[in-house]
Amino acid sequence: MIEQIKDIAYLVSSVLFIFGIKQLGAVRTARQGNFLAALGMFIAVAVTLFQELSYELIIAGIMIGSLIGVVLALRIQMTGMPQMVALLNGFGGIGSLLVASAEYIKDPLMGPETGVTVVLSVLIGGVTFTGSLVAFGKLQGIVTEKSVMFPGQHLLNLILILIGVALGVLLNIDGFTLGSWFNAMSMDAPSGMALISTVIGLSLLLGVLLVIPIGGADMPVVISLLNSYSGIAAATTGFVLGNKVLIITGALVGASGIILTQIMCKSMNRSLMNVLLGGFGTTTGVAKASGDGPEIVVKKVEVEETAMLFDSASSVIIVPGYGMAVAQAQHVVRELMEVLQKRGCTVRFAIHPVAGRMPGHMNVLLAEANVPYEQLFEMDQINDDFANTDLALVIGANDVTNPAARHDQSSPIFGMPILNVDKAGTVVVVKRSLKPGYAGIDNELYGYPNCLMYLGDAKDAIAKLIAEIKANA
Ligand code: TAP
Repeated sequence: MIEQIKDIAYLVSSVLFIFGIKQLGAVRTARQGNFLAALGMFIAVAVTLFQELSYELIIAGIMIGSLIGVVLALRIQMTGMPQMVALLNGFGGIGSLLVASAEYIKDPLMGPETGVTVVLSVLIGGVTFTGSLVAFGKLQGIVTEKSVMFPGQHLLNLILILIGVALGVLLNIDGFTLGSWFNAMSMDAPSGMALISTVIGLSLLLGVLLVIPIGGADMPVVISLLNSYSGIAAATTGFVLGNKVLIITGALVGASGIILTQIMCKSMNRSLMNVLLGGFGTTTGVAKASGDGPEIVVKKVEVEETAMLFDSASSVIIVPGYGMAVAQAQHVVRELMEVLQKRGCTVRFAIHPVAGRMPGHMNVLLAEANVPYEQLFEMDQINDDFANTDLALVIGANDVTNPAARHDQSSPIFGMPILNVDKAGTVVVVKRSLKPGYAGIDNELYGYPNCLMYLGDAKDAIAKLIAEIKANA
């Protein structure tokens, strides 16, 4: 009876997870989706705890973990969110590794069905853990952001993976057969403990080796992939423990992580293989790095001139980018929108799928500043409208507006879909300097005849612009 109630509760929580993820797909329903998923998790945890357990350690674990989680979440800046997600994925990975190896140590004769999943949990969990730590270190500036490559690296990784699989096979062979194999070679058979420890060591080493060749620029993609790995590790651990809800949630995380990874790769016009083999930004010998191309002559404008342009504009598209996040300019941007709308100007926001440093980065910031969802448009929805727009205001966005992506085959971002800001009547770009963005390349837009550079920190520059527009009124 208790088992049946548990299964029904797990089913309810799984349904809540699925509806939660579905609702997270649209900005309008995202909060409710988050709530549903959290409720599902609450039910799953509560039901799991409702059995014969020693609660002292569990309560201590929950308290310490929650405290660390709350402090980290409160202290992390929005721009540091990718690192935070990397760490959380890593903890998921090590959790799976520890649970699966503990199960093996408890019962080394568990049989091949469980043994295979133990090895998978340990291998994938270990790779996720150290891989995520390296990703965290790269984004936090603790480890070099550059791609670290050496000859034979990919071959070494392949050999290590094969050794891991071979050790996994050995772990699943019964002691008697294993003993006779090794006796035939006049060697002592390794103990189960030695084998599992080696698989753990190997997986931890592999995590580091697989992520170091990937440059900082590709870290968000790697983090999304590691997120998927942490889900797969959790699902395999679910098989080890015979826990259905862990299998379902792990599979959900695994699948959604890989779908997100694919979306990100597509938006940057890269293949997943190209990202994983690493070296982006170091092997692009033909690409024009910043400063290598012909000198771009830019037209700089001050606040007075910029305000006059807005005075005469009846339609404006705002293009936010990573710089808006750095400057925390979303609130002044919303204020600018309101000021312009009061004057009868149509204001819309164009959101590039990889603007910022993580999926949905701009949507989250603008939602935080209470910009109505109806005014946010995805690239495909709005790209054709730039041509009919008086003014495109680019705030701290760079690569996602670079027209070189359309025609310059030597550019590292060639083929990446971009926002057609250059088609607008006038383009005003707000950034602090003429330095390049994430991809490290000059933006030819800045030299276009209809492009004006209004240099400054996004928050200050927009605040000054608002004051000037109001003063002119
Ligand atoms: P970027 O190309 O990185 O450009 C951001 C610009 O913001 C910089 O050129 C910088 O110029 C400016 N900036 C920085 N701080 C500022 C401040 N306080 N005030 C004003 N401007 C400031 O950003 P983007 O256009 O959003 O493009 C995103 C890039 O990230 C793409 O290359 C994309 O492929 C990559 N990426 C994104 C993701 C996701 S999922 N979003 C994942 C992987 C990679 P100054 O230094 O001159 O101010």
